[in-house]
Amino acid sequence: MSVLKFPHLFEPLIINRTVFRNRIFASPQGSSYLDKDEFPTPEVTVYYERKAIGGAATTCMGVRNVDPVSSLNFGDNVINLRDHRGISWFNYYTNAISRHGAVPSIELQHSGAFAQQSAKAGHPIYGPVEGDYDGYHVLAMTEGQITATIDAFIAHAKWAKLCGFGMVTIHGGHGWLLSEFLNPFFNTRTDQWGGSQENRARIVREICKGIHEQVPGLVVEIRISGGEGSKDGYGVETGIEIAKSIDGYPDIIHVSVGHATFDEAFTVMCPSMFLEDGVNVKYAAAIKPHIQYSKVGTVGALSDPALMEEIIASGKADIVNVARGLIADPDLPLKARTGNDKDINKCLRCSYCFSHIMSTGQYCCAINPEIGREHEYTTEPLKVIHPKDVLVLGGGIAGMQAALTAAKRGHTVTLAEKSSQLGGVLLCEEKVPFKVHLHEYIENQIRRVKEAGIKVLLDTELTPQQAEEMKPDVIIAAIGSTAIIPPIPGVDHDNVIAAEYAYTHAEELNGKTVILGGGLVGIELGIYLKNLGKDVEIVEMADKLNCGDNMVHEMGVNVEIDRIGLPVHTSTKALKIDENGVACQNADGEIFFPADHIVIAAGMKGRQEEAAAFAQSAPLFYQIGDCLAVKNIYEANRLGYNAAMELGTRW
Ligand SMILES: Cc1cc2nc3c(=O)[nH]c(=O)nc-3n(C[C@H](O)[C@H](O)[C@H](O)COP(=O)(O)OP(=O)(O)OC[C@H]3O[C@@H](n4cnc5c(N)ncnc54)[C@H](O)[C@@H]3O)c2cc1C
Ligand SMILES: Cc1cc2nc3c(=O)[nH]c(=O)nc-3n(C[C@H](O)[C@H](O)[C@H](O)COP(=O)(O)O)c2cc1C
Ligand code: SF4
Repeated sequence: MSVLKFPHLFEPLIINRTVFRNRIFASPQGSSYLDKDEFPTPEVTVYYERKAIGGAATTCMGVRNVDPVSSLNFGDNVINLRDHRGISWFNYYTNAISRHGAVPSIELQHSGAFAQQSAKAGHPIYGPVEGDYDGYHVLAMTEGQITATIDAFIAHAKWAKLCGFGMVTIHGGHGWLLSEFLNPFFNTRTDQWGGSQENRARIVREICKGIHEQVPGLVVEIRISGGEGSKDGYGVETGIEIAKSIDGYPDIIHVSVGHATFDEAFTVMCPSMFLEDGVNVKYAAAIKPHIQYSKVGTVGALSDPALMEEIIASGKADIVNVARGLIADPDLPLKARTGNDKDINKCLRCSYCFSHIMSTGQYCCAINPEIGREHEYTTEPLKVIHPKDVLVLGGGIAGMQAALTAAKRGHTVTLAEKSSQLGGVLLCEEKVPFKVHLHEYIENQIRRVKEAGIKVLLDTELTPQQAEEMKPDVIIAAIGSTAIIPPIPGVDHDNVIAAEYAYTHAEELNGKTVILGGGLVGIELGIYLKNLGKDVEIVEMADKLNCGDNMVHEMGVNVEIDRIGLPVHTSTKALKIDENGVACQNADGEIFFPADHIVIAAGMKGRQEEAAAFAQSAPLFYQIGDCLAVKNIYEANRLGYNAAMELGTRW
């Protein structure tokens, strides 16, 4: 018997005398905020610590390259686990994790033939075989280099133990060195490190054996690619052979999928929003029956505890590894354990976090504004010394976040929304399958607003004068944006509609639809309509589609456009619209696109002036979200949260 809603998910797992309190393991994530010696700073520590507080069984500090010269793939900021001066920093880190009951792990990696960062710096780079990859020449490792690499992994595991880590995660997937050895299509050596699967796996077995012998008590997990997730990569049959050839050497075989250096495979490795929940579970499920000794983990697009429970209960895997699900909501395990799973903010799989960390080195999340500033909120935040009467204008992403945060902090909050419902502009995507978690998130926020004691005024568009008469201490304007209508002759024709309308009235779009605008709104609309079986094309005047600054989502978008065969015409400018379609100009001259419906997706314009008009109507005034600058969910949440956290802490 169990009092828990998800009993299998919360069944402890004891491996190598280490107790894992449940089956939710945090999947590896690379670090930023390292100090100049590449040691973790307190900000890094608390980012991972937050997952431990939220109830995950492990945390995993990503990518530590075991060879600082020839093994670097991305950036210089690899965690420095080779220098004794770091012992206290790492012990500070591991203590912060283990005191909350989670097991700290660290990922050890060698980038092999894809060590571009090392190659760029002029160092020779190595793989199992000689060849040219991604524009760099790769040398075949000698016998001596292979044994030195095995020793390096073991030496790093020793350091890890000394620093208080309870587990190491050896990266044997995603195209890096160890997966190159394991891969029969890549590793064509004929010596004892190739020629048969037994030989190809020798390097991994030697590493695991060495760690178990020389670092007793340390749990050894290995990530493998159960398949490479692209038409050119290997499939699950090879994944099964790879897993069988290492069974019993690592304690855990963590079955990931994909390849880090090819777009198509990357968007399966870190599943894009166009793929279904738990898309990669099938790989672990196919591998598990062949594995006798090691535990098996699965990873990718998991943030629903009901699905996780089913995976464990049905024996598809022993462990669920979660990366983005624990960024979007580090309390996912606690909420699931206590039966509050409805309150989980499920990851949108927008990958803004991944792109942001690669481009800026900063942690963040579109829907969790505490990410990247955990150090402020795992301790007591500044006290509210002057509780306020707060009037929030606009019930979209930013307004709801501001209202909720202010109410939670003890302020009295009124939320005035012009339309008849909360949710803002994104309500138009309610029916879009790949935005299902976004819709759930908005529904959750609306429920939270209702439960938080916030006074909600719907169908209410206040003038600055009316707002002033309500005598609030603070006005937070979050009134969003409006669609930009480009001055194309004929744009007011009957066959022209706005993107928002197209989203909500897709059933009316029979015949041919041309979308003018290849920004995210137009692209995602095109994908949505095409998946509904509509005849749709995108016309964009720039020379490429524009996914904003989200490079990981961009990969997913491009893969999906190719997969569904969505026609896209870049460097093509709309000149004139008539009842038969739209005339455009491209490099070859004028071209006419016949169309029954022409959708304008030319961007949004913030209601900046309209919002700024409220600046004199209360002693304190904040302008947040798209009405400050048209951006995204992350910015809307970030600014809404921040404004409300500051309120009343000083004046
Ligand atoms: C179709 C579409 C898809 C998008 N998809 C994504 C995505 O996948 N990921 C992402 O990060 N971003 C996305 N964006 C951008 C994102 O929606 C916005 O950045 C975000 O919604 C901004 O939140 P906000 O609260 O500032 O504005 P909104 O969500 O627009 O909310 C503003 C609210 O204010 C109300 N309002 C307006 N005037 C007044 C007034 N005078 N008084 C009271 N209320 C008023 C409106 O009715 C509305 O409810 C998308 C945008 C569009 C248009
Ligand atoms: C911000 C971020 C950083 C990541 N860093 C690493 C890393 O350092 N090493 C690694 O093996 N995987 C890394 N990953 C991949 C994840 O471990 C995981 O395999 C992938 O995100 C799919 O799981 P998810 O759908 O739960 O996010 C990272 C993912 C994210 C989102
Ligand atoms: S930024 Fe997007 S993908 Fe990343 S954790 Fe948050 S919701 Fe998920």
